[in-house]
Amino acid sequence: MAPVKVGIAGLGTVGSGTVNVLQSSAADIARRIGRPIEITHIGARRPNPHCDIGDIRVSADVMALADDPELDILIELIGGTTVARELVLRAIANGKHVVTANKAMIAEHGNEIFAAAAEHGVDVAFEASVAGGIPILKALSEGLAANRINWVAGIINGTGNFILTEMREKGRDFADVLKEAQELGYAEADPTFDVEGIDAAHKLTILASLAFGIPLQFDKVYTEGISKLTAEDIRAADHFGYVIKHLGIARQTSDGVELRVHPTLVPKEVLLANVNGVKNGVMVEGDAVGPTLFYGAGAGSLPTASAVVADVIELARTLAVPQADRVPYLGFQTNGLSDQRV
Ligand code: HSE
Repeated sequence: MAPVKVGIAGLGTVGSGTVNVLQSSAADIARRIGRPIEITHIGARRPNPHCDIGDIRVSADVMALADDPELDILIELIGGTTVARELVLRAIANGKHVVTANKAMIAEHGNEIFAAAAEHGVDVAFEASVAGGIPILKALSEGLAANRINWVAGIINGTGNFILTEMREKGRDFADVLKEAQELGYAEADPTFDVEGIDAAHKLTILASLAFGIPLQFDKVYTEGISKLTAEDIRAADHFGYVIKHLGIARQTSDGVELRVHPTLVPKEVLLANVNGVKNGVMVEGDAVGPTLFYGAGAGSLPTASAVVADVIELARTLAVPQADRVPYLGFQTNGLSDQRV
């Protein structure tokens, strides 16, 4: 069968990982979906030594991808909210499906983007936007679909968890560990997003929208980061039997959904207290299933690429389904959402 043609905008940490995973798993993917996936166009200002793009067409202007008539799927991995939003809306208007890892764009402009996608009959997939390689959005919209969700609570920023773990276990300095997280490609382009809780708030906005069927409301999240924590705070918590973890919490209450991200004292024996390093751990309690825990790499090139490529595979499968019969990807609906307060 004819290949599914994809374009990748952005060749940074996640973009290069996505090229590598699509190339290394090409034969398996083709077997699973019955047709190959071919990268035909990359938008990047410079090459990345961590991947080999051979003779794939490259455009310095990413907008060229939105206008490329050959592409079935645009993969947006440039990050940020201004150019990324413009690129995605243009690709949607041109009838392309979109895969993105961009939590800031989804949290802040998702309502507009999903409305545009519904209008143009395309899907926007964003599994990689939350908790790196952990398929938590699929779990919420599919695996736990039978449940009324009571609460979601988790460690959803790998950089912050890496910093807190290294400070506690090795007595390392905050700034020194943050620098290492940047070198390893875990941190955001602006690491303030990681250490001030903004990245976690973006992710919690998305989790809550899927868990509770509410619109994306980033501005309603109480947001506090880890930058004011000291080595003394960590030692004192340890003395009293606790670990300090930066948690995102979304909870159904009688007044609506509560959304908050902040450092939290977690008893040492609790599972989340033992999620260390760059790993993320997300607990979800459903009324039927009870508490569940999802654990894995929350950041990094290949783990995040794993989620990006899973979305590409899912969309490639749906290309064969007539538009009228298609269920919106991830069960994300732009209408019929509950208007309950946050
Ligand atoms: N900076 C983010 C983190 C990347 O550390 O979790 C993955 O979203």
